[in-house]
Amino acid sequence: MKGYRAVADVYDALLRGENAKVSAGNFAIHKNLTIPAEWRKAGLTCTNDWIVQQASLNNPSNILDAGCGVGGTLFALIAQMHQGLGITLSDEQRRVAEAQASQLGLERRVRFLTQSYDQPLQESFDLIVAIEALLHSHDLPATIANLSRHLNPGGRLILLEDMAESDISDDPLAGIWSSGWALTHVYTREEFEQAIQGAGLVLERHENFTPMVKSRRWPGSLLRALSVVLGHGVSKRRIFLGGLALEHLYRSGKVCYRFLSAKRSNG
Ligand SMILES: C[S@@+](CC[C@H](N)C(=O)[O-])C[C@H]1O[C@@H](n2cnc3c(N)ncnc32)[C@H](O)[C@@H]1O
Repeated sequence: MKGYRAVADVYDALLRGENAKVSAGNFAIHKNLTIPAEWRKAGLTCTNDWIVQQASLNNPSNILDAGCGVGGTLFALIAQMHQGLGITLSDEQRRVAEAQASQLGLERRVRFLTQSYDQPLQESFDLIVAIEALLHSHDLPATIANLSRHLNPGGRLILLEDMAESDISDDPLAGIWSSGWALTHVYTREEFEQAIQGAGLVLERHENFTPMVKSRRWPGSLLRALSVVLGHGVSKRRIFLGGLALEHLYRSGKVCYRFLSAKRSNG
């Protein structure tokens, strides 16, 4: 977990006292999308349903959720026959995920660890999923290379992440987002794609989810003023403000919420 203490603090702070909300939200700590009609027609009611559909796992599989939050995606994915491991930086999240696993009677098929996705793992996987997690990486090519080393031949990496359309490191709203969420760098879509290809994976699918994201219309000038008032340090208010800044960046087309799927060759 070297270097990631600030990220762990953000997620511990976010969860504190919010267990009822997390449970009502199906144990997902990601954006609540406006579900399009074609998803509903296909019986998909949330992001995790879409991920399960895209994963199309027909044989018993071993799944890693890299940045698993409180386990909602893993619970949806392991369904009847799969098993999985969830890793998170937050002890609070791990405890909630473990309690829910035993509530669901899944403790034999799913495990949770407080561990960074940059550390080596003891096993390999048929599917690795990361939802709103790799944006926290301190070195995206190294993170994706580490994950892909633990992917079985023919295995798949599925990502759903916020990606800048171009370099926005000088943008004040990107600064508010980054400091609220403890991001060291805002990665571009190109950087994600290069990291995937650099790890020897083949990009097979790409989709832009930004039109489904709900965004509140707070003016940029107000967000900048509030950022000065709130100052530094981890707090729920600064995390909230970071989220509003991100929504502003969606509206200005500078950041998109993107689904990427990549495969490791069979050979
Ligand atoms: C926004 S939450 C998303 C949680 C989950 N993927 C979901 O969709 O409900 C971000 C997650 O990424 C995890 N994370 C961030 N950096 C990480 C790292 N270096 N190693 C492991 N997990 C990390 C956090 O601990 C948190 O669980």
